[in-house]
Amino acid sequence: MTKKLTISTIKKLKNERKLTMITAYDALFGKLFNNTADIILVGDSLNMSFGGKADTLSITLDQMIYHTQAVSNGATDTFLITDMPFGTYITKEVALESALKVYRQSSADAVKIEGGADKADTVKYLVDNGIAVCGHIGLLPQSVRSEGGYKVKGKDEQSAKSLLQDAKEIEKAGAFCIVIEGVKADVAKIICKSVSIPVIGIGAGNALDGQVLVFSDMLGLFEDFTPKFVKKYLDGAALVKNAVRNYKKEVESGEFPDEIHTY
Ligand code: KIV
Repeated sequence: MTKKLTISTIKKLKNERKLTMITAYDALFGKLFNNTADIILVGDSLNMSFGGKADTLSITLDQMIYHTQAVSNGATDTFLITDMPFGTYITKEVALESALKVYRQSSADAVKIEGGADKADTVKYLVDNGIAVCGHIGLLPQSVRSEGGYKVKGKDEQSAKSLLQDAKEIEKAGAFCIVIEGVKADVAKIICKSVSIPVIGIGAGNALDGQVLVFSDMLGLFEDFTPKFVKKYLDGAALVKNAVRNYKKEVESGEFPDEIHTY
């Protein structure tokens, strides 16, 4: 059994070994990932892959807390980060109220908020008030409607410069790590080398302190679309469908339940 990481061990692992982060939305998968993943993220992506919605924007704080409680019931020994939903950190005061609610009502070890330099004051306010914060820069899924789609960042010098500024300000504000999403690999690499906290990538190349994937993507369970950066480690959808087909066939034929599955 591996020891649960803490904020300080996570920070110390920069330049020592890579961190593996995975999302989970319930106790079943939380338990499966416990003691294997370094960090479990209760991501607001659950609104899409679990809730069937087109984007992450409509999930509520109460729903995030419910799923965090469920994950922590299974993942008892893994560092847990909960996403702060869209609209729950519009001012630093609102952010603190939301984060305090997450801490009071769940076992989350930290919260994650999307945004760069524009969110540095909010990150600092949370950290100053005892909340552990993971930043999230680059492609921000909560900006999908305002930006008119999911846009890869760092494609030109101006964008690269402002991403670097984002990372530096989030670090200065006291975040213990940063998720960087949908950023050109060479730019993400420079950012990673320019800050002293771990930078964990998704769709941002290999030269980072760790990686995060949405579990339903990497297990091949989510079929609606597959982003370029997702590697499927299992053909989960085919396996599940095949199992249910076999079950149906055996129910219809009367083969199930057989003697060994009968009292
Ligand atoms: O919500 C989520 O799953 C995330 C990851 C994409 C990093 O924020």
